[in-house]
Amino acid sequence: MLFQADLENAAEAASFKPPQLAFNLLVGSPCLWSIAKDGSDVGLGPGLEILGLPNIPQFLKEAESRPDEFMKLKSPIYYEEALLSIAEFVGANIENMVFVENTTTGINTVLKAMKFKKGESILINNLTHEAVSNTVVDVCDNPDLETTVVKLEIKLPIRSKEEIIQQYSDVLEDNPSVKVAVVDHITSSSAMVMPIKELIEVCKSKDVQVVIDGAQAIGQLQFNLGELGADYYIGNLHKWMFGVRGSAILWIHPKHYKSIKPLITGHNYQQSLFNQFFNQGTRDSSAYFCAPAAIKFFEEIGGFVSL
Ligand SMILES: Cc1ncc(COP(=O)(O)O)c(C=O)c1O
Repeated sequence: MLFQADLENAAEAASFKPPQLAFNLLVGSPCLWSIAKDGSDVGLGPGLEILGLPNIPQFLKEAESRPDEFMKLKSPIYYEEALLSIAEFVGANIENMVFVENTTTGINTVLKAMKFKKGESILINNLTHEAVSNTVVDVCDNPDLETTVVKLEIKLPIRSKEEIIQQYSDVLEDNPSVKVAVVDHITSSSAMVMPIKELIEVCKSKDVQVVIDGAQAIGQLQFNLGELGADYYIGNLHKWMFGVRGSAILWIHPKHYKSIKPLITGHNYQQSLFNQFFNQGTRDSSAYFCAPAAIKFFEEIGGFVSL
């Protein structure tokens, strides 16, 4: 656990551009989330404040001092700016992306908006994160449709990416009922990088939609969402991207614009994706607004080059 003094030292160190690896080891990991002040855990918001970057207290203060102006005028601007910065970072068009609070919300949003036919299935694997596999079980719990979960038992050790591609190919061959596969970009407990580009191709060749769970990937792996070819991609900013807790992205292939909608129906029902996801009642979106600061911080400590 780091203490306030460590963070201040780290901020000072940042301005001196120390050897990147040493600096990354100090603050370049999720330990920054656990910085303790008075022995209690605090989030990255105060960290951004010390580093002189836009932060949660700053947005809250602004919101509380002029709530009406903030909600009506400033919020949409901050939201769009934040979305633009993260869209550029992950190689996406802003039209294809929205913010969600976390990967669990993103997965729920996607799977609960899908229309299943009788007897169709969702493919997961034995390494799927529990929040995600539970969501899949919940979505499939529909006696009228008799939807089922197909679980691929990934056999370890995996010696090459071809092995995992083959296992996916086989399970899809054996289970033509699969309508959608949920695939981790990086598995949670085993930290395995999945060959998602190839797996997307395998799924596409069998007319299976692909939802990528990138909870652990943004900030660890460099990729281009526009080129990847997934149907949906969900990834946290609050893990390896130094984002504030409660900030994640949901990328949606344009062919699914019409079917996707937020879990919460709000004022902007049936409007553009941006409007629907932006306005889900009066709520605090400050965590999203910190995305540009998180990206700036990530770049300043060396970005992907220093990983
Ligand atoms: C692979 C994976 N998926 C989903 C989640 C859930 O993420 P969140 O708690 O941000 O919803 C995690 C969290 O660790 C994860 O590692």
